[in-house]
Amino acid sequence: MKLTDLTTESQFDPIGLDEPNPRFCWKICSERSNVMQDSYRIVVKTDGGAVWDSGTVPDGRSIFVPYAGSPLAPFTRYEWRVTATDCTGETASASASFETGRMDTPWRAKWIAADGPLDDDAVTPTYLFFKRVPVRKAPVRARIFVTALGCYALSVGGVRVGEDYFTPGYTDYLRHVPYQTYDVTGLIRQGENELRCELAGGWYTGRLGLSIKGNRYGKKRALLLELRLDYADGTTETICSDQSFRYTADGPRRFAGFFDGETYDATREDESLWTFRPARLLRGRKPAITAELGCRTIRHARIEPLETRPVEDGIIFDFGRNFAGFVRISVDAPKDAEISVLHAEILGNDGDLYTENLRTAKARLCYVSKGGLQTYEPLFTYMGFRYAKLQGVTQEQVKAVCAFELYANTPLTGTFSCDNERINQLQRNIVTTQKANFIDIPTDCPQRDERIGWTGDLAMYSATANFNMAAGRFLRKWLCDLRSEQERALGNVPYIVPLGGVKWMRIMPSPIWGDACAIVPWDAFMASGDIRFLEESYGSIKKWLRYMSVITALLHPPFSKKRFLYRGFSWGDWVAPGTTMKEQIKRAEWLSAEYMAHSAKLLADIADILGREAEAEEHRALEARIKKSFCDTYLDEGGHIRGGFQSAYAAALRYDILPKAAAAVAADDLEQDVIARDYHLSTGFPGTLHLPFALLDSGRNDTAFRLLLQDTCPSWLYPIRCGATSIWERWDALREDGSVNEDPVGKSNMVSFSHYAYGAVGQFLYERIGGITANQAGYRKFTVRPHIGGGIWRAQVALETPFGRISSVWSLQDDGTFSLEIQAPPNTQATVCMPSGEEHEIGSGRYTFTSRIDETAVLDRNHIRRT
Ligand code: BGC
Repeated sequence: MKLTDLTTESQFDPIGLDEPNPRFCWKICSERSNVMQDSYRIVVKTDGGAVWDSGTVPDGRSIFVPYAGSPLAPFTRYEWRVTATDCTGETASASASFETGRMDTPWRAKWIAADGPLDDDAVTPTYLFFKRVPVRKAPVRARIFVTALGCYALSVGGVRVGEDYFTPGYTDYLRHVPYQTYDVTGLIRQGENELRCELAGGWYTGRLGLSIKGNRYGKKRALLLELRLDYADGTTETICSDQSFRYTADGPRRFAGFFDGETYDATREDESLWTFRPARLLRGRKPAITAELGCRTIRHARIEPLETRPVEDGIIFDFGRNFAGFVRISVDAPKDAEISVLHAEILGNDGDLYTENLRTAKARLCYVSKGGLQTYEPLFTYMGFRYAKLQGVTQEQVKAVCAFELYANTPLTGTFSCDNERINQLQRNIVTTQKANFIDIPTDCPQRDERIGWTGDLAMYSATANFNMAAGRFLRKWLCDLRSEQERALGNVPYIVPLGGVKWMRIMPSPIWGDACAIVPWDAFMASGDIRFLEESYGSIKKWLRYMSVITALLHPPFSKKRFLYRGFSWGDWVAPGTTMKEQIKRAEWLSAEYMAHSAKLLADIADILGREAEAEEHRALEARIKKSFCDTYLDEGGHIRGGFQSAYAAALRYDILPKAAAAVAADDLEQDVIARDYHLSTGFPGTLHLPFALLDSGRNDTAFRLLLQDTCPSWLYPIRCGATSIWERWDALREDGSVNEDPVGKSNMVSFSHYAYGAVGQFLYERIGGITANQAGYRKFTVRPHIGGGIWRAQVALETPFGRISSVWSLQDDGTFSLEIQAPPNTQATVCMPSGEEHEIGSGRYTFTSRIDETAVLDRNHIRRT
């Protein structure tokens, strides 16, 4: 037995931790089966000795065990050691560390800015702030604590600090901004050290969707920084940002923005030409500086172009798939040559970049050559693209071009594959699209002038997101901003988080989108096992439901049976094929009640888990009243949903809105609708995630699989047939003839090729085909129930859970033999349900089960007979 993966607040050996009671997790590794932890003991020490000894705790808990010792001191490194004993008496130990951050230590540093009343990103280049720090002896420890209004990139002695992009990240800046901690011990030298910090506008002063204007949060970019040097003799020195810092606006980066790209004039790299001024102190209100949550954006895969093609006005590089990141170019070009890089997700029918769907985003890099061989890559922007066009250089002058994928520093946790290559491509597209949109916040798209945190998109997608990545920390940060926006909105959950400073939007509800406040924390809790998601979100869900209850009450006369039905603005069945925006909005009448009932159910479940039984009862009563309101209004005498449509049926079934008889009718109606459309879906965002579940779980196995495997439009595999490498915003983003669907939605061009909402089908692949579902938070208890159908003969799922790796690999032989291999980690239990109906209860270990599926009818109905 071994203990592995020791984390503190879900991080390995973190520094800069401000949590007064950090939580510890570990995993047990054992060759034996049926291993459960019997007890644990945690000892936390610092140089001065032990600060906490939990003693032997007779408990199986191995995730999120909170520190409960004497108060932690700031700026201190702690080591913790856990010893766990399993049910056979075997014992193992392991250690890890964490270092506290400032823990409320007041900042001595001052917010510093450049001269002038306004930083207008359209004309203001990035600033470079400097300070020469004399260091009399090498420190034993050096840390930089830093944040900004804008985005910063820091270096010490010419070496870049950290590998992060766009720090300090995007939060509700009107209220709070997080700071980062960096270990710079290895960079500080005895003698003079140059601290340099480049400051761009980022989300703070840069252009932001929806209004696509700049300066949504403030007029001036600013920087706050403390360098703390600890010496061997126990003394400490702190260097703070203040007026002794100098800055220049003469550096090479003349422009930087998320939508529009960068302009970099390499001829200005010569520092002797720069003029410096003293930094100024920032005036006016400043946001609170908070501990860092979330996952910083870092570079991941390096992507080489698959193909290079000269066109009339440049050279097009094809990187083979649609992702988010940037291009690095190496060129040998004469001084002053102007080189640009344009980006696009697809090529038009003319073979050139298609950029209409970027709307006002220029997504362009402009580079001015300093002469000779040189390499450039941007620092303060990213693009969603597959193709890049280089202009202003000849093929001979281009020495190398590659790209880097950027996304949050979140570990990938899940994999799914099967013997259907198109489904595998669908899975790859889902993951790529998630990566492209996990850039500090969960965005809707990475390419056009939007890239914002639409709540509904994440609500639809979060279950799948948690399969693909350990997204807990990433989502927790965003939820913190959701609550921050909600606090100033009478309980409403705005449909974009952070709101981008657009204050009036705060109180405008969009049900379904707003239900993200319940769905996202619940999904994150189930995947991570972190109860803090529930504790932190309980009040927020309650407020949201109260807000919606008041609004729906105002819409109807007293005692109306429509009491909980929403009529008004909502994005509704957003981008449902073949509908106008007006029709999509109208569909919110059905969908918002269904989602509201579901949120009330989640709230009741959460109240139960948090031990608030009386409140749980109230919430269940609310859930029942919403469902009744829905049924009384919409069910006709035959039990059909009046005015029903696929999304309404699917959500009703999945969220258990209807009485049993009506549910059977709805399942029939849904199936009939799908068949009437020749096995095509017609769902927008809020229905798509439920559709295959609603069919399969109501016994419509054949229809569910036929729909999943459909490859004419609209369907999940139609884009795959068209060569898609990512998930599209609209089912028909590309038409059969290869042209782009430019039909506006409302007044806007809406053809993103990187929008994850329809990728929510990923959950179905993991849970129904692979067969793994969590029954208890963190997969402490789970079910393995693979479903066969659609001619799929083999599938496999692996998932790194908080307890360790779960995997399920199944195959079906010609003779009807079904075999299932399962791996369950220590400290978990699973129920295995074979397609033949047998069930097995298992503990940890590796198992193989076989059974026979010999009913010809079943084989035929599921198209699983090989021909
Ligand atoms: C976004 C969507 C979002 C929608 C609102 C679009 O502009 O890209 O993903 O949910 O607006 O309905």
